[in-house]
Amino acid sequence: MSHYQHPLNASQLPSWQALQQHQKAMHNFSMRQAFNQDKQRFQHFSLNHDGLLLDYSKNIITQETLTLLTDLAKETGLAQAIQALFNGEKVNASEQRPALHTALRRPIGDQLVVDGVDLIPQVHNVLKQMTEMVNRIHNGLWRGYSEKPITDVVNIGIGGSFLGPQLVSEALLPFAQQGVRCHFLANVDGSEFHELTQCIQAETTLFVVSSKSFGTLETLKNAQAARTWYFAQGGCVDKLDRHFIAVSSNTKAAVEFGIAEENIFPMWDWVGGRYSLWSAIGLPIALAIGISNFKELLAGAWSMDQHFQQAPFAENMPVIMALLGVWYSDFWHAQSHAILPYDHYLRNFTQHLQQLDMESNGKSVRQDGSTLDYATGPIIWGGVGCNGQHAYHQLLHQGTHLIPADFIVPVVSHNPVEDHHQWLYANCLSQSQALMQGKTLDEAKQELCHQGLSPEEVQQLAPHKVIPGNRPTNTLVLERVCPRRLGALIALYEHKVFVQSVIWGTNAFDQWGVELGKVLGNNVYQRLTGQAVAPAEDASTQGLIDFFRNRHRG
Ligand code: F6P
Repeated sequence: MSHYQHPLNASQLPSWQALQQHQKAMHNFSMRQAFNQDKQRFQHFSLNHDGLLLDYSKNIITQETLTLLTDLAKETGLAQAIQALFNGEKVNASEQRPALHTALRRPIGDQLVVDGVDLIPQVHNVLKQMTEMVNRIHNGLWRGYSEKPITDVVNIGIGGSFLGPQLVSEALLPFAQQGVRCHFLANVDGSEFHELTQCIQAETTLFVVSSKSFGTLETLKNAQAARTWYFAQGGCVDKLDRHFIAVSSNTKAAVEFGIAEENIFPMWDWVGGRYSLWSAIGLPIALAIGISNFKELLAGAWSMDQHFQQAPFAENMPVIMALLGVWYSDFWHAQSHAILPYDHYLRNFTQHLQQLDMESNGKSVRQDGSTLDYATGPIIWGGVGCNGQHAYHQLLHQGTHLIPADFIVPVVSHNPVEDHHQWLYANCLSQSQALMQGKTLDEAKQELCHQGLSPEEVQQLAPHKVIPGNRPTNTLVLERVCPRRLGALIALYEHKVFVQSVIWGTNAFDQWGVELGKVLGNNVYQRLTGQAVAPAEDASTQGLIDFFRNRHRG
């Protein structure tokens, strides 16, 4: 029996209208005052799950705000949607597919029957295939054409077939296994290819062509270039299968490319690219950190999946984070959301979330095709702290935009150097404190008087020193960056994005918007290379084509 229904128009719901009224009432709400009045505000607005602490007390919220937001979640049918997601109903309506990345995290022995087939044995068979491959490589049993063991693995893939694996394998560097180095080749940019091939040897390199569709231009061009390079370095055709393997749901295209069928790791159409690091697309992760750490990553995500399914909305981390995002996007008109990890190993987290969030919820119609009359996915941006403090945080503190931000920091550093980690943690906390607290004009004036400035100087300088404050932030504290916590953290954001899609009524699992550019890219290529002579449809594109052609002429 299907539970999944096309979502309602959120802006017509009673809770949405109540939230609009409530926002007006909250216009003068001061977080500073709220903290002064309620010494338990941190306890009231924080949650713990499996080594992850979410402090959401520095938000423009009261208990009433949360009640109204959770009412919105109930009225949009979130409980049924979560069930539909986990049960394998076709939550991706435009492609008539389920979105079952959560099935990839289910433990062995679990059951998930979709269309009469239990998917869990299939998932664990692929995990077994991955285990065998990883062990052979780690034990030096997988040999290149000159019989030397593999030392370097190059993942050729882009988008979800790149960002997740890169994030995790680099974030978990302290768990790296000796023996293999992982590299990533994503863009169709000869410079990236050139730089990479400077530091690897063909005889000890394994290329993993990662493409769900096996039809992505950048990946196919790089795979072809890698094969040409392999031959130019002395590799031979009959040993090609020792150097090229693939992860794809399009076995036919991978075989046509020349990958041996037994070297193709399957994936399923029910796993979206940006949700695929848990599948065989995660092979570089398993190669980097070993299969038991990869399983810990899956276990951490599964623990978050259970929390998401079971916790009441008011105590549910992904739900709370999603509702806060909706609160700011739709009722406070915030257009962007900053992701600020205070950890070197999490430096690629923002990029992964950009694809996860913006490709999922960068939509203008609901699942049923009707046009939205409210804002959906925000612009996700940010980067690692403290670096951002000396760059764009100025705009967070004093700019004219309201930008909610997530600070992410571990309690324990893998590399304690003197008191660096205390300083890093202190900076992370003090940034969200400053964003919340701000500095009033009176405080600015007093500060300048104490510094001995003349009344005229104080008058002149004080407005520049005012910091409005009341800027919303979440702080996510991880016990440390390890496979389990990282798995939970990534799954937390996946579910946050899903909850928002349910509220907005969008399909979080398709990405039709990227297709037009691909088609036009092909047309432009034909003109650049002289294979098409008809002028481009517009003068700008034609002018830019001419500029390129003139430079390359003779
Ligand atoms: O073009 C967008 C996209 O389809 C992403 O959704 C996907 O993660 C990426 O390209 C790569 O796709 P594939 O794994 O099929 O090569």
